[in-house]
Formats: sequence, C-alpha cells, structure tokens
Amino acid sequence: MKELRVALIGGGFMGKAHSLAYAVAPIAANLGASVIKEVLVDATPELAGRLAGELGWNSSSADWREVIARPDIDIVDICTPPQFHEEIALAAIAAGKHVFCEKPITNRVEEAVRMAEAARAAGVVTQVGFNYRHTPAIAYTKQLLEEGRLGVPLQFRASYLQETGFAADPNRWRATKATGGSGAVGDIGSHIIDIAEYLFGDIVKVAARARAKRPTPEAGWLDDTERIDSDLIDDGAVWLAEFSNGGIGTFAVSSFASGRMNRVAFELDASLGAVEFDWNSREEFRVSYTDEAPDQRGFRTVHTNDKHPGGMWRIAGLGTGYVEVSAIQFQKFVRAIVSGEPTAPDFEDAAHIQEIVEAVLEATVSDSWVDVPARIGVAR
Ligand SMILES: NC(=O)c1ccc[n+]([C@@H]2O[C@H](COP(=O)([O-])OP(=O)(O)OC[C@H]3O[C@@H](n4cnc5c(N)ncnc54)[C@H](O)[C@@H]3O)[C@@H](O)[C@H]2O)c1
Repeated sequence: MKELRVALIGGGFMGKAHSLAYAVAPIAANLGASVIKEVLVDATPELAGRLAGELGWNSSSADWREVIARPDIDIVDICTPPQFHEEIALAAIAAGKHVFCEKPITNRVEEAVRMAEAARAAGVVTQVGFNYRHTPAIAYTKQLLEEGRLGVPLQFRASYLQETGFAADPNRWRATKATGGSGAVGDIGSHIIDIAEYLFGDIVKVAARARAKRPTPEAGWLDDTERIDSDLIDDGAVWLAEFSNGGIGTFAVSSFASGRMNRVAFELDASLGAVEFDWNSREEFRVSYTDEAPDQRGFRTVHTNDKHPGGMWRIAGLGTGYVEVSAIQFQKFVRAIVSGEPTAPDFEDAAHIQEIVEAVLEATVSDSWVDVPARIGVAR
C-alpha cells in the first residue's frame, strides 16, 4: 500500500488534535494509503522531542526548512499560529509537498491569495482546517440541499460563541495582531463563514459591527474608534451577508459569551424546509419539511450514524467527537492525494473566507455595505 509520510509543524493544541486524528482516520475508513506520523517540528529541540514522544511521532526536529527539504516527506501539516502559515506553506509547495494548513489560512488576504495561486500552479493538494463542516450532521445538510430536498436557500443565521475572553492570558499569541491573533471574526468567525459558504454558496456583500472589550471585568466594549486607532483585535462582532444565490444571512461571534464554551450553531431556512444545528449536540440535527401533513408539521430530531457522510458508528448515540470530525477531514485530504480528486475546503476556498473576514472588518469601519471580491479564477 502507498505510504504517505507526514511532517507536523507545531505540536500545540491543534497539533494534538491532528496527531489523534491521523491515528483514527485510517482505522475508521480505507484511505488507499497508510499515513505515517514521521516527524513533529516545534520551536526548540527539547519541546519538539517531548511533544513527538507524547503525541506518537517517529522523530522530531526544530527546523521546519530542513524537514520540508526531505524527499521522504509527502505531507506538510501546518499547526503554527497564523503569521507563520504563508512562509511554511510556500516552502512546502515549492518542494512539491501536499499541504494541510490550520485556519485561518493567514491573517492577510494577499498572503492567502499567494498561497492559493502557488498551490494551483504546483498542482499539489491543499486543505484547510475548517473542521466543523465535516460533522456528519452538517455534511448531510449539504446533501439535502444538493439533492433539492430542502429547496432554494433563503436565510442563514449562525453564531460562534465562546467565553475564552474572560480567562485569556493577555500574553498569549491570540491576544494581539502583532503576535498573530486573528480576532473573533478571523479566528472563530471564519468557521461559520466556511459553514455558510459550504451550505449556501458564496457571500458577495457584508455590513458589520465589531468591538473590542475593555480589560477590566466590569467594563463593556471600547468605543470602536479606539479599537481601530489602537489596532486592537475584535472580541465580538455581528454582520449581515448577502449570498450570490440571493440568500441572506446574519452572523454573531463573541469571545465574551459567559457560559458558552464552544458553541457553533446555525439555523437555515429554505423554500421546502429548514435545519438547525448546535455543535454542543453535534450528533444530531433538527429538520422540518414543508410537505409534511398538517398534523405532522414541525421540527424532528435526526440522530446521525454511519448512513450520514463520515459517520463512523452503525448505532447512533455513541458520540461524535472533535477527534472524529478531525479524522473525517484527514480522510478527505488523504483520499484526494491518492485519487487526484479535488477536496475542500482548499486554499482557494480559504482565501475567499479571508476576503470575507477582511470585508466584515472593513464594513465596521466604512459604516457601509462592502462587496466581497470573487474567489480566485471566478468572474463575477
Ligand atoms: N480548527 C480548529 O478547531 C482550531 C482550533 C484551535 C486552533 N486552530 C488553529 O490552529 C493553529 C494553531 O493554534 P493552536 O491553538 O494549536 O496554537 P498553540 O499555541 O497551542 O500551538 C502552536 C504551536 O506552534 C509552535 N510554533 C510556533 N512557531 C513555530 C515555528 N516557527 N516552528 C515550529 N513550531 C512553531 C508553538 O511552539 C506551539 O507548540 C492556529 O492557526 C489556530 O487558529 C484551529
């Protein structure tokens, strides 16, 4: 069987999730290749060595350039903070490697476009870690839309809420733009933008408000002029969106939502039905169809199992976890490498998501609707 050797760059929070997911992916499905966790790279030899041992990698290194130059490496998987993504990805693409990159693809759209163009020119397979879309309930919702069972997309309402801001260490890399922080829109908002575009198609226009929170516990939002003048990351935002198919959407993100640990949720209305999903009950979704008999109308809960895309268990109710959903994304990535078929979300999808992130932040300053540029290679 074909062997694919992976180099993981960055063994932190996501490095752990990816390490677990690479172990699960080939057990849960036949990928047509065996995936070998060859080398883990981190900032120092000591850190890399310890993490490689803990997370089950064959070897370790503190020099990603040297690792990328190795002919035995097939896949470079980037799990560093976003400001390093472009440099590492471009080097990996130049060396002919397939590249998996965590989200956001970068914090700057011009970098994202360079990455997408380089990957397209080199013909390597790319994928970005917008993992939530691979949840079987969300992938099945996509199937219902594609099959026409739900009809025409009308309205999409999404939120991604966390309470991480209350406990955050001000020195962590996420806290400032200078250290690679993406803000709530780029960090968590990018996930719901990905789900929105996956289900409803491209977003073409946005109007928005974003805010940063004052540091003291009792204080509220900063005046937005102060956020912009001080070049602070946004801690919360709301925006409206228009889709290319005429659908409309509302979005909310916050790092200061008390009691919300990691709540990714959406509702969608279409001309023949509606779906609602909440990551905190991720194994199920609720669906309503307009053609139900009058005495049967309303939402019903569907529990996902192995009849739904990526589902691993014949019996529903056993649990679908963060690692399983990450494993599904690597199944798609590895199958694309083996078969030559496209996978998603790739660097071009992620570059378009970054266009939307930046349009949302621009709209909050311009106080007007902002047009989102068409994705690479698509005329509008
Ligand atoms: N998809 C998701 O659900 C999800 C969740 C969390 C984070 N992320 C994304 O994953 C990426 C990493 O976030 P994280 O939470 O794992 O961060 P983290 O701080 O936990 O880990 C980052 C790791 O990268 C290492 N690193 C930094 N610079 C490096 C370099 N030049 N060479 C080698 N190693 C280097 C650090 O030492 C650290 O071990 C970010 O882009 C983030 O947005 C995605």
